[in-house]
Amino acid sequence: MDPGQFFASSRVLIVAGKGGVGKTTASATLALAAARTGRSVLLVEVAGRSATAPMFGAAPQGYEERAVFDHVDGGSVRCRSITPDEALVEWLSTHGFGRIARRMARTGILEIVATATPGIKDLLVLGRIKALEQQRVADLIIVDAPAAGHAVQFLQAPSGVRDTARAGVLNRQAVEVMEMLDDPRRCRAMLVSIPEETPVNELIETAFAVEDRVGLALGPVIINGILPAIEGLDAVDASAALLATEAADLRLAADLRRNRMALQAEQLDRLADRLPLAQLRLPQLFTHTIGPDELTHLADEATSSIETLKGWA
Ligand SMILES: Nc1ncnc2c1ncn2[C@@H]1O[C@H](COP(=O)(O)OP(=O)(O)OP(=O)(O)O)[C@@H](O)[C@H]1O
Ligand SMILES: [Mg+2]
Repeated sequence: MDPGQFFASSRVLIVAGKGGVGKTTASATLALAAARTGRSVLLVEVAGRSATAPMFGAAPQGYEERAVFDHVDGGSVRCRSITPDEALVEWLSTHGFGRIARRMARTGILEIVATATPGIKDLLVLGRIKALEQQRVADLIIVDAPAAGHAVQFLQAPSGVRDTARAGVLNRQAVEVMEMLDDPRRCRAMLVSIPEETPVNELIETAFAVEDRVGLALGPVIINGILPAIEGLDAVDASAALLATEAADLRLAADLRRNRMALQAEQLDRLADRLPLAQLRLPQLFTHTIGPDELTHLADEATSSIETLKGWA
């Protein structure tokens, strides 16, 4: 599939998965890959202060929106984070509430309201994303969502609030967010995992929950941390040029690596059997941090992976 077409098929991509599997890295990778197809991308983090700027070589940022990447073809990436408090203040000011209401919002009224109406914080954040989507602030909005268990809860918040608040502004906000989640041209989820047994099981569970309980369409899954093949790995066994002790060490290392690669391949097959979704594969990199060079490498891999796709499913 043409990457440009891939990134044009939905206006919001929600990247979700178990803690630590690489959601933030995958979100930044997709953002860069999309920007290289000429799209303007807004990369949104909802779990706190944005951590993606350094991957693009920019200084770590606070909560404000800022540009982190510009492509010669006009594509770009901006990063920002959205918090429930910021979303509430923004919502109040765009709905005609004056300074007093906004000051109330800043003094912790959200905590009181949130206790009375579960799910309201998540709804506020999703409502803010929906507003940004409707204002067409970017060609593509990529959301780095909370970790898996919470991701389903996060995405189910609108239907929860809709059922509690039967009428009024909250109900309307919930219904509008659900309309966005229901429309694959507006929004899709991309789930991330690593090729290991427990994360793969959790990915499968989350996939069914997102589709059945939230009604959100799923894009390809992202499998992060794939061990790259090593050229000459099998030659280690046969090499006669090595000292006996060196040869034993190397053989052991080669065996371990082959073993891990076989385990990964097994999990990838199992996932393909149990979940009928295409897989985008990202390699394990052997660096301490992910900076612009590593991100470029990951975006290259994502792009070639997308090129091999037949379609979205
Ligand atoms: N393909 C990769 N190669 C090497 N390191 C990686 C790769 N993907 C992620 N990492 C590293 O693994 C760590 C976790 O990745 P990341 O922060 O993207 O995960 P996450 O799912 O967003 O985590 P959290 O649930 O804490 O938000 C980071 O230190 C990141 O740099
Ligand atoms: Mg993260």
